Amino acid sequence: MEIYIGSDHAGYKLKQAVKKHLEGKEIKVTDLGSFESEESVDYPIIAREVCEKVLEYPNTMGIMICGTGQGSAMACNRHKGIRAALCNTTYLAEMARKHNYANVLCMGERTTEEPLALEIVDKFLETKPDTEERHKKRVDMFDK
Ligand code: RB5
Repeated sequence: MEIYIGSDHAGYKLKQAVKKHLEGKEIKVTDLGSFESEESVDYPIIAREVCEKVLEYPNTMGIMICGTGQGSAMACNRHKGIRAALCNTTYLAEMARKHNYANVLCMGERTTEEPLALEIVDKFLETKPDTEERHKKRVDMFDK
């Protein structure tokens, strides 16, 4: 599995924790920044980097973290082919993968405690899309 991860300054600490959490698992994680928490960074710029990689390399996924996750999700969803889901529960992460075929997970460092965020990451990455026709048909409608 291959993941592209990014954050702005407000998501930097949680991004580092997610990277550490994924270390040692069979997941290749590429960090696209921000590389520090002190300097303010515009989240749409990092979101673009993450989305461009996910779109370029099939079967990869993205994780984007900012203060709330909200701006990240909005920015990511401007990219055709990206299905970004803002998740603050494991149920949302599971359903975003199963029914909405989400390929980017967005979270907020200011809104989700680290232990829960790590559970959300695991749920998102381990859940496979439901291949039932009704879900596929609806997801296909996004890009039409
Ligand atoms: C940065 O202060 C904050 O606005 C950003 O991280 C994010 O929460 C936006 O949605």
